[in-house]
Amino acid sequence: MPLIRDIVQADYSVVEELLYSNDLGDGRFYDPEGLDVVVAELHGRVVGVAEFQLHCDFGHDEGREAHPGEQTFILTMAVAHTDRRGGVGRALLAEIARRAQRAGHTFLALVPQDGADAAGRQAFFQACGFTLYGPAGPGAAWGCPVSEILAVKDTAAPKAGG
Ligand SMILES: CC(C)(COP(=O)(O)OP(=O)(O)OC[C@H]1O[C@@H](n2cnc3c(N)ncnc32)[C@H](O)[C@@H]1OP(=O)(O)O)[C@@H](O)C(=O)NCCC(=O)NCCS
Repeated sequence: MPLIRDIVQADYSVVEELLYSNDLGDGRFYDPEGLDVVVAELHGRVVGVAEFQLHCDFGHDEGREAHPGEQTFILTMAVAHTDRRGGVGRALLAEIARRAQRAGHTFLALVPQDGADAAGRQAFFQACGFTLYGPAGPGAAWGCPVSEILAVKDTAAPKAGG
């Protein structure tokens, strides 16, 4: 199981490379300021990252009246190609869900990227319990109750930080 922990400065170059290789960064300089960021470590190597906002009023800010108010919003996730389908993505989500619960939030939300492998990432989020809310289409939001993610067995990973 991966270790999920807070990012530290020594991780920045690896994380930038991880994001860049997934078309999620500019490959130049990683700056997590203003974001909550956790990384996944396997055998001492950072193989995954998730950027999120622990407190976000995304639904209301974006005019989604049906949205359940303040929650935790996931911005970006990436797992190294060589380490996919081993539960790293699920462990990152589980840690975010634990932190959201501790912060008093009941819901995780995100907007999956469009583009290459959109079907694969949708399959991932669906497998983890996320469903679409509101009309489908580019920029559509997905969400999942924190309790549902935490109810899944085997998502617990030893963690540091938080
Ligand atoms: C999406 C991503 C983060 C998933 O990470 P991962 O570590 O491979 O995910 P997990 O191993 O925890 O997968 C959990 C479940 O999700 C489903 N799943 C994951 N990737 C899938 C894919 N490409 N196709 C279909 N189902 C998938 C599976 O049901 C999987 O369980 P299983 O392997 O036991 O069948 C990773 O593929 C990735 O980094 N993709 C590129 C960047 C990206 O799309 N980020 C998300 C939006 S910002």
